[in-house]
Amino acid sequence: MPAVQRLRGTADWLPDALRHLRHVEGSGLAVAGAFGYREIATPVMEPTELFTRSVGDTTDIVTHQMYTFTDLGGRSVTLRPEGTAAVLRAFAEGELRQASRPVRLAYTGPMFRHDRPGRGRYRQFHQFGVEAIGEAEPELDAEVIALAWGWLDRLGVGGTTLALNSIGDAICRPRYREALVAHVTPRRDQLGPLDQARLARNPLRLLDSKDEALEAVLATGPLVSEFLCEPCRAALERVEAALAVYGVPYHVEPRLVRGLDYYVRTTFEIWHTSLQGAQNALLGGGRYDGLLGMLGYPDVPGVGFAAGLERVASLAPAASDAGPGTIAVASIGGAAVPAALRLAGALRGRGLRVLTDVGPRSAKAKLRSATGHRAAVACLIGDDELRAGTVAVRDLRSGTQEPVPLGEAPTRVGALAAAASPLDGGGP
Ligand code: HAM
Repeated sequence: MPAVQRLRGTADWLPDALRHLRHVEGSGLAVAGAFGYREIATPVMEPTELFTRSVGDTTDIVTHQMYTFTDLGGRSVTLRPEGTAAVLRAFAEGELRQASRPVRLAYTGPMFRHDRPGRGRYRQFHQFGVEAIGEAEPELDAEVIALAWGWLDRLGVGGTTLALNSIGDAICRPRYREALVAHVTPRRDQLGPLDQARLARNPLRLLDSKDEALEAVLATGPLVSEFLCEPCRAALERVEAALAVYGVPYHVEPRLVRGLDYYVRTTFEIWHTSLQGAQNALLGGGRYDGLLGMLGYPDVPGVGFAAGLERVASLAPAASDAGPGTIAVASIGGAAVPAALRLAGALRGRGLRVLTDVGPRSAKAKLRSATGHRAAVACLIGDDELRAGTVAVRDLRSGTQEPVPLGEAPTRVGALAAAASPLDGGGP
C-alpha cells in the first residue's frame, strides 16, 4: 500500500520555515498597526456566491480555480480563494458598518486556488492583506500602497517595482471596452478558444491572458488611459501626488487590469525582478467601490491589497533571533529526576525555553543530545550534585562548567542563557 502523502500544491511548514513565515506576517501586521489597521479574521469557507458575485464569474479564479463543494446541508460552499470579499461581507454584516470611517482592517491566513502548482504558485497559500473601507479619497489608495511598500522595506526585500494604473469607472470603462472589442474582433482568428469566449463574455479579461498571439494583438490596441473620464483622471493624479509625498517610486502600467472583476479606478501591483513571468507579483490590490453592492449590501467605497506570503518570505532575509538561548536540564540517575524537573519549572517560570532529559542515558550522551538540540546551556544533576545541593552548569558554547548552588541556579542559568541567544535562530 503506498504511503499517504500531502496533496499537490500544499506545503507542510516545518518549524524553521514557519518561524520565518510568521516573522514576515508579523512585520506586516506591525506596519499595518502603525497605520491604524486592526486585525480581523473571517471563515476559511464561505457561500460560493460570495466569490461568483464579486471576483466575477468569468475570471480565471471563479471559472476554474475554486475549491467548491456541496456540504451535507446541500449548500454550495467554497474554500476562500481571496480575502477581500469576505472582509467586506464581515464589515457589512456586523457592527463595523457603524464604526467611524474609514474602517481600517488587516488580515492573514490561508487561501485556496486550484492553480497549476509551480514555483511561487500553490493551491493552498497564505496572504497578508489590508482593506480600508468607507472612504473614496484617492489619498487612501496611496496610504495602502505606502503601507505595502513600507512593509517590504522593513523586511529588507529590495529589487521591487510598483506598477500603477486606473481602469476607469462605470462611466468611462464601457467606452474603453467597446474600443477594445472593436480592435480585437476583426483579429479574433488569432485567439485561442478561451480568449474568444472572453471576448464575447468579458473582454477586459483578455488583458489577463498570457497568450503571445493575443499579446501581439493587444500591443497595437487601445489603452484604458486614453479613455479615462475627468474624475478618474483627477483621482489617478491625486494618487500619484500622494505617492510622491510618501516617497514611493512607481510607474504607470496601462495594461494592468488585475484578474478580479471588482476593481474600479486604481489598480496596482508590486513586482520583483527575480520572480518569473506571471509569478512576479508579490502583491496586488486596488479600489473596489462597487463591491458591496454586488453582494447585496449598500455600496461603500474601499481600497486594499493582498500579498502572497510565500513569495515575500522567499525574498526576505531571515530575522536574527534576539531571544535567550535554550537550556537543557538533565538528571543523571533516577534519584535526581524530581530536582531536575523542579529546576526546569523554575526556569520556565522566568520565561526561558527548557528541554528536560530525565531518561536513563549517560551524562555524555545527554550533553551530546543537548548540543544536537542547539541548546546554549546544560544543567546536570546527579548523585554528587544532590548530595552537595548544587547543579553542574555547562556553557555549551565555551565548554566551561561550574557547580552552582541549586537555590541560585535559576538566576545564574537565566543570565547565561540570556547572554547566549540561539546562534542560528533555531531552538527545538
Ligand atoms: P490577487 O492578485 O489575486 O489579489 O492575489 C494577491 C497575491 O496573492 C498575489 O500577488 C500573489 O502574491 C499571491 N497569490 C495569488 N495566487 C497565488 C498562488 N496560487 N500561490 C501563491 N501565491 C498566490 C487578491 O487576492 C485581492 N484580494 C487583493 C486585494 C485586496 N485587492 C483589494 N484588496
